Amino acid sequence: MIILHKAADLKIHAQKAGNNWKKSGFVPTMGALHDGHLSLLKAAQEKSDLTIASIFVNPSQFNDPEDFKKYPKTIATDIRMLEEAGCDILFLPDVTEMYPHGWQQSEPYDLGGLIDLLEGFYRPGHFQGVCQVVHRLLEIVAPGGIFMGQKDFQQCMVVQRLIAIKNLPVQLHTCPTLREADGLAMSSRNIRLSPKERAKAPAIYREILLIINNLGNTPIRTLEGSAAKNLLEAGFTSVDYVSITTPETLKPLEKWEAGIPAVILVAAFLGDVRLIDNMLV
Ligand code: PAF
Repeated sequence: MIILHKAADLKIHAQKAGNNWKKSGFVPTMGALHDGHLSLLKAAQEKSDLTIASIFVNPSQFNDPEDFKKYPKTIATDIRMLEEAGCDILFLPDVTEMYPHGWQQSEPYDLGGLIDLLEGFYRPGHFQGVCQVVHRLLEIVAPGGIFMGQKDFQQCMVVQRLIAIKNLPVQLHTCPTLREADGLAMSSRNIRLSPKERAKAPAIYREILLIINNLGNTPIRTLEGSAAKNLLEAGFTSVDYVSITTPETLKPLEKWEAGIPAVILVAAFLGDVRLIDNMLV
């Protein structure tokens, strides 16, 4: 695996690769890699001639500076994992390479209604930061495809919108969420959970399944309310949202009947670790 720190060096590689680069698959990450990331790389390898991953903990997408400080960093292990998984190129920039003019100066992206809902509401500025870094990465890397996880459902919608509004020549591939044996969605943040918190964490998955089992027979708002209550009873510190929505807009669904697509999204805290999960019905 070739490790590059500079955008200019990536450009040289892209020129040398010629047409192969157009069929490249890109997996952007913030490191602390787990099997979920490797599944994105595998999907990229299956669909591309060349795979590129990036590791950059993007300061502009953290609405909480403490969360940024505590974001897990496991760079030596990450490099080994990518190498063993057969990644071709790792882009590992520092903050000045990513933001030569500083990251505070970004123009706002028009994200429509997505900005006020769910993650957009609870993490003000987060999606502007995601767009800023993904836009910059896509300009630098210029891949044919970008591979992202469905675990961050709203982020995938935001990136799709970014691609549309900036007319970027790249295809977004949204890949399934990988889960631990007890159902907990894989996430870099999971390693920050204490053993006691880790034991409580799969309650999110269980509550989502319970909602799915009762979707047709219980009012939607009742299902959301009981799931939030059950999470608190299971030891969660607080619940930002349990929301049953329509996948096209993420607006609350009023009524569900068999055949109507829905997505159930949850965000909740265990101590100071914020976990999110979702499932499409
Ligand atoms: O999902 C993530 O890890 C990040 O939000 C991303 C897409 C790498 C941008 O920093």
